[in-house]
Amino acid sequence: MIVEGGRRLSGQLTVQGAKNSVLPILAAALLSEDQCRIQHCPRLRDVETAVEILRYLGCEARWEGQDLLVDATVVSRCDIPDVLMRKMRSSVIFLGAILSRCGHAEISYPGGCELGPRPIDLHLAALRSLGAEIREEGGSLQCSAPRLQGAEIVLSIPSVGATENAVLAACGAEGTTTISNAAREPEIADLQKFLCAMGASVHGAGSSTVTVVGKKPLHGCDHTLIGDRIVAATYLSAAAAAGGEICLKGVDYRHLSTVTTALQQAGCRISCSPESIRLWSNGVLRGVSPIRTSPYPGFPTDAQAEVMAALLCSRGTTVFVENMFENRYRHVPELQRMGADVRLEGRVAVVCGVEKLHGARVHATDLRGGAALVVAGLQAEGVTQVTQTHHIDRGYADLAGDLRSLGAEIRTEEATDEDT
Ligand code: UD1
Repeated sequence: MIVEGGRRLSGQLTVQGAKNSVLPILAAALLSEDQCRIQHCPRLRDVETAVEILRYLGCEARWEGQDLLVDATVVSRCDIPDVLMRKMRSSVIFLGAILSRCGHAEISYPGGCELGPRPIDLHLAALRSLGAEIREEGGSLQCSAPRLQGAEIVLSIPSVGATENAVLAACGAEGTTTISNAAREPEIADLQKFLCAMGASVHGAGSSTVTVVGKKPLHGCDHTLIGDRIVAATYLSAAAAAGGEICLKGVDYRHLSTVTTALQQAGCRISCSPESIRLWSNGVLRGVSPIRTSPYPGFPTDAQAEVMAALLCSRGTTVFVENMFENRYRHVPELQRMGADVRLEGRVAVVCGVEKLHGARVHATDLRGGAALVVAGLQAEGVTQVTQTHHIDRGYADLAGDLRSLGAEIRTEEATDEDT
């Protein structure tokens, strides 16, 4: 991705459907012996991987414009090959859904962005509480649950993925399951909406206690995804840093309040309505109070890198504390190549605003870190070349195209051997 810095951003765009909603929802489609239509579905690498998994399992999946249609009338196998498991972290969410549908599942450990250790112990403990027997054999997980039974599950950490896996398995269990200390992310509420549209009985998503009354099989449904709050946070960060006026549609501003509060404190003017989020920035920002990532409704770890990139030329200092993942500052050395002054110590990063950034050749190290390099490039002097953009494609349907539509000077070029 080639970014020429210094252009102000202006215009309006509709934010893509949420990646973190669509992935568990595609797994949930396995619970219906019918067709589901997922509207406003972003065409992402991770979505393509989920489609590959569904097809491997024997389901039909096809695109109709922006809608993805999944027909899970037939599920002919209950394993996921290692090569698909490794492509993304969310492949593990299929475990609860396959167990629920088939009573048996065989998977290996999932891949995904390298943000430090990302165990699945809570996922497995939740499924075991529901009666699943899980054996590990040479890196593969053999899971068997001919009969799942509703249970009281208490998560020690409000893990998004473990909550989703527990909900999906509980839909296929006999009786009632209560999940306490559940993650409260809006994407879990979206999953609940989808499951209820399929006839499931799920309540409380969005709060810390989710209750599921098992019921099988579920029927097909139509569902429109919520807008992607992290993609919205990326575009707001971009406009905050580059200056200009943008209007984002299709995303719920309440899902972004910690991000908009930080950008307002940095000097942006933001107005929100049920239809849109509008941001004005003169491109001259100031440092803000410490930003500490935490589970929703706290500041999202997925927006940490992008907001950090926006503040690189701010007046003053901003402290970031990353509480969710150990290794989530891999973008920092790349930002330093562009002239950023960021000091790292463990989970703390201190950003001291510099006069200006300069374009450089930098590598996307992970999905959000990659987007942060683009945000930095938009405010840098000269040309920034971001390589390894396959990380970015995992979560943004068209980052370059969207930013171009807002007036950015950004294009994509085929990678050379040197880039890969
Ligand atoms: C989800 C999001 C990801 C986001 C993250 C945190 C999706 C597809 N991905 O990832 O974009 O960055 O939430 O908001 O929705 N943990 C354990 N054991 C487990 C599971 C998690 O210790 O079994 C820990 C993790 O290491 C991490 C914390 O719990 O420190 C939160 O992780 P979790 O909420 O599970 O993240 P994901 O669902 O993987």
